[in-house]
Order: sequence, then C-alpha cells, then structure tokens
Amino acid sequence: MRVNWRWSVCSVVLLCVPYSSAILLKTNPEENAPEQIHLSWSGNPTEMYVTWATPRASAVSSVRFGMDNKTLTSNISGESTTFVDGAVAHKVRYIHRATMQYLQPGNRYYYQVGSDAGWSDVYSFRSIRNGSDWSPRLLVYGDMGAVNARSLQQMTKEVLEDRYDLVLHVGDFAYDLPTRNGDVGDEFLRNLEPLAANIPYMTVVGNHEEKFNFSHYKNRFTCPGDSEGMFYSIDVGPLHITVISTEFYFFLRYGVQQIYNQFYWLGNDLQKAAAKDSNAWIFVAGHRPLYCSNPDIVDCNPKGNIFRKGIPLLMIPGIEDLLYESGVDVGIWAHEHSYERTWPVYDLKVLNGSASEPYTDPEGIVHIITGSAGCQENHTRFNPHPYDFSAFHTTDYGFTRMTVHNRTHLQFEQVSDDKNYVVVDSVWVKKTSPGRPVWYREKKRKQLLEEMERIRNYDRFNGPLVRSRARYGHPRKPAQQDPKKPQRL
Ligand SMILES: *[C@@H]1O[C@H](CO)[C@@H](O)[C@H](O)[C@H]1NC(C)=O
Ligand SMILES: *[C@@H]1O[C@H](CO)[C@@H](O)[C@H](O)[C@H]1NC(C)=O
Ligand SMILES: *[C@@H]1O[C@H](CO)[C@@H](O)[C@H](O)[C@H]1NC(C)=O
Ligand SMILES: *[C@@H]1O[C@H](CO)[C@@H](O)[C@H](O)[C@H]1NC(C)=O
Ligand SMILES: *[C@@H]1O[C@H](CO)[C@@H](O)[C@H](O)[C@H]1NC(C)=O
Ligand SMILES: *[C@@H]1O[C@H](CO)[C@@H](O)[C@H](O)[C@H]1NC(C)=O
Ligand SMILES: *[C@@H]1O[C@H](CO)[C@@H](O)[C@H](O)[C@H]1NC(C)=O
Repeated sequence: MRVNWRWSVCSVVLLCVPYSSAILLKTNPEENAPEQIHLSWSGNPTEMYVTWATPRASAVSSVRFGMDNKTLTSNISGESTTFVDGAVAHKVRYIHRATMQYLQPGNRYYYQVGSDAGWSDVYSFRSIRNGSDWSPRLLVYGDMGAVNARSLQQMTKEVLEDRYDLVLHVGDFAYDLPTRNGDVGDEFLRNLEPLAANIPYMTVVGNHEEKFNFSHYKNRFTCPGDSEGMFYSIDVGPLHITVISTEFYFFLRYGVQQIYNQFYWLGNDLQKAAAKDSNAWIFVAGHRPLYCSNPDIVDCNPKGNIFRKGIPLLMIPGIEDLLYESGVDVGIWAHEHSYERTWPVYDLKVLNGSASEPYTDPEGIVHIITGSAGCQENHTRFNPHPYDFSAFHTTDYGFTRMTVHNRTHLQFEQVSDDKNYVVVDSVWVKKTSPGRPVWYREKKRKQLLEEMERIRNYDRFNGPLVRSRARYGHPRKPAQQDPKKPQRL
C-alpha cells in the first residue's frame, strides 16, 4: 500500500496541517475512483453524511474537508460495506459512508472523498443552520428515473445557485435501482452526483425500490435513525419532517410487523414533535398519496385507500387519523407522475380555513402530490372530473419548491419543465398565530396511541383471522397458541 507522505503527520483526526493546493489533485483516478457521491443530513447541524461507491474494495474510506477550498484541512475515515445484489449474478458493490463532524452550522464547506487509490472532485455544501429561527428552502420531487429525468438539469442548476437548503426525493429512483444487476441504479446515482454531492439529499422509499426487500434503497442511501432509511425524522429550522414508508402496507410479504413498528414509532415521533415549541410546522412525507385524482384504482380510490384507512382484517391501522390527531400540517407524496395540490382535507371532507382564504388556519391537512420529475413511464393522466378535494393539478413535468418563511407562513411553488421553468402553481399556507393547528386534540391522540400499544403486542394470527375463519367454519386449533402471548380481549 502506498503511503501518502503529505498526510503522514496527521495523527489525530481534524488536527492535520494544511498543505498546498496539490492535495486537490486526484491520484490515479482510474484505479478505484469514488463515484455516485451524495450527501445526506444526520439531523445534527454540526454533521453531514457522505455516501459513495467504488467498483473495488478499498482499504480506507476517507473524506478531506474544510471551509477553504484550497486546503481541506480535516481528514476523517468512514467505513465501507460490501453490498451484494440479490439477482443471480450477485454483482458486488463497495459502499462507503462517512460523517463529517464538528461543522459550524450554516457555513459553506468543501470536500472530496476517496483514498490514495483515487480521490473525487471537490464538491461543496452549506451545513444546515442551527436553531429554529430561519427559513428553510426545500426542493421536493418524486419519481425520477435514469432515463427521461426531465427536471434533473434545472434542479441541479438551482441547487448550484444556492437556492435550497435540502432536497427531498419522495420515492421511486432510477427505474429501478436493482435493474440490470444494479447497473441502472449506478447510472442514476452518477447522473445525480452534480446535484446530490452539493446539498443534503434526503430520501423516501417508493414501490420501485421493493426488490430484494428494498436492499438497494437501504444500502445505497444513508439516513438518520436505525430503520435503514425506511422511516426517520429531522428538524430543519421551524419545520419537523417525518419520513415514512408507505410500502410496508403494499408488500406484506416482507413482514407485517414492520407496519406496527413504524406506526408505533410514528405516533411517538409526532407526539414529541408537537410538544416542541420550535416545531412550528410538521410535514409528513411518504411515497403513495392518501388523496389523488388520477385513474389509479389502487392508490387513487380515496374511500378504499388502504394506507389511509388501514386493513381492518389484519388489524392494520390506517395513517390518516394519526396524522390528523397529531396536528400534521402538510402531507407530501408522489407516485402519480403528475402534480396535484388539495384543499385542506380530512376523512374525505374539505375543511377550508374560510371560503375566501382556504389556506389561512386550514382545518385539515394540505396534501401535495409531486411525482413529475420524469422517468421512462412518462406522465400519469387525471380523471376527467377530479374529486372535490382537488384544488390544482397539472401533468407538466416539474418539481416543487417549499419555503418555510417563518412560524406562520409557508409557500409552495410548482415549477413546470414543459413551460420553461415558470411557476404554474403558487400558494401560501398561513396561521394567524403559531402553534399546532386548530384541530389538534391531545386526548384523542393519546387514546389512539394506547390502542396502538395494545395492537403492537398482539399476535395477528391468533386474532381477527381466527375469528374470520371461525365464521367460515375453519377455526385454528387453540393448542398452537403460546399462552405467554397477549390475547385479544
Ligand atoms: C475556490 O475558491 C475560489 C475563490 O473563492 C474560486 O475562484 C474557485 O472556483 C473555488 N474552487 C472550487 C473548486 O470551488
Ligand atoms: C487521512 O488521509 C489519508 C490519505 O491521504 C489516509 O490514508 C488516512 O487514513 C487519513 N487519516 C484519517 C485519520 O482518516
Ligand atoms: C445550537 O443552538 C443551541 C440552542 O440555541 C445551542 O445550545 C447550541 O450550542 C448551538 N450549536 C451550535 C453548534 O452552534
Ligand atoms: C425485510 O427487512 C426487514 C428490515 O431489514 C426485516 O425486518 C424483515 O424481516 C425482512 N423481511 C424478509 C421477508 O426478509
Ligand atoms: C374550499 O375553498 C375553495 C376555494 O375558495 C372552494 O372552491 C371550495 O368549494 C371550498 N370547499 C368547501 C367545502 O368549502
Ligand atoms: C414515453 O415517451 C417516450 C417519448 O415520447 C416514448 O418513446 C415512450 O414510448 C413513452 N413510454 C411510455 C411507457 O409511454
Ligand atoms: C412571516 O413571513 C411572511 C412572509 O415573508 C411575512 O409577511 C410576515 O410578516 C412574517 N411574520 C413574522 C412574524 O415575521
């Protein structure tokens, strides 16, 4: 192994002496160069995660970073995992992760990743600001592929213009990350690098990540929390964002328990979020919408939407009551390859703040469905007669800007790629006084959580299924039951 003498005096992390700009030169980039570099945020303003891949194993996974782009004075090591694709070819990838630490919040940093077998270009990002007294600017979109990624160029341009603090990709990547032994995922992440290496790029899991128990999603991205990125939350200024997996409800073969775990975690997360004064707004982001007006009989059948209403037979609770009772302000979704904004809504009812100002003190949750960044499946049409809850919709390709101006004002803008990046939808959501929305009811929510706690410890196969089988005359043998397991009622 070659020793780089310039760094040999660095004995302690972060105490290295700056050297000449020569350190920015790549060394043997063809050897085992880092690629697919992307950032994500841990939730701590003094940290930033960076994730990358190399075609072959490398002895170290290093990051050099600093506030001066010529002297990347800090040098930290990360760790590397060997990720084996689930298809028969079992293609192997080496995924590297490191956490840049001791950052000063709200400052621009420069960094490069790699090892002596190859260093990346120098990228830069702004660390997330500290506290809740600032205005986060989010770039939000879903459903972007390796092919036909219509919005990517404009989004990258706007990120490099420093117009955002954070990017949220609301599920469905590459089409698909595992396709052709994962080569399509590699291609997608290479195309994404100019954007995602320069800004924290936060992810939400979608149905296209389902293969091999979501292993490409879990292995290629780095998210806070311990759910492998399936559900987590962050506080960004006055905003709390909770990310969840809608896909647990649709791919039951990977385990129903995950739905209970997530629901239980979600209830607690939202309760904590609502109790924190600094969280003026709460957004929940998941891939499949609760409400939409496209001709999609599984997901846009609002009455029968299983994610919204749950699966009573399996005692699987729906999500909408919990979001509503927790005082969630905004739901962010994708999945439909179009853009739609709802009026404030709960349980299929439109609950405008007032007739003249529906979004001032809204009495329901406002939903934004933004899945039109572009992929090989092209657009999704709308029903000729959208539902009452639908306020605006467009099939133009595009992406959404969300700006939380302060504790009482936030703004959404939909940018159309088809119309040369003009804003085709713009709306303000306002509160006359900061805090939880008017409908937030602690007591009801507590009941809901207690109910969940009961369900959580409950073995579904000894419960309602037994009952329904009994009804059809095929009861299970009681002898199979474990007496220690809690019984229902
Ligand atoms: C480094 O900073 C200088 C001066 O601010 C700038 O001209 C140059 O483009 C920067 N280089 C990189 C790689 O960002
Ligand atoms: C610093 O960087 C060198 C490569 O230049 C690497 O070999 C070394 O392990 C790094 N040190 C730490 C503490 O990460
Ligand atoms: C962030 O803000 C909190 C509360 O104001 C403060 O205690 C903490 O020291 C700040 N952290 C940094 C890194 O500035
Ligand atoms: C899928 O992954 C989750 C979390 O990693 C695990 O709990 C679950 O058991 C897995 N399901 C199957 C069928 O392997
Ligand atoms: C909500 O407000 C919009 C815009 O003013 C209006 O078109 C719609 O009919 C209202 N819905 C209800 C149920 O009041
Ligand atoms: C998507 O659009 C392209 C270009 O118009 C077309 O070639 C392709 O067949 C379309 N794909 C689907 C699934 O409709
Ligand atoms: C919040 O932001 C809005 C829009 O920028 C502004 O009109 C309003 O005065 C601000 N409120 C406070 C309390 O700063």
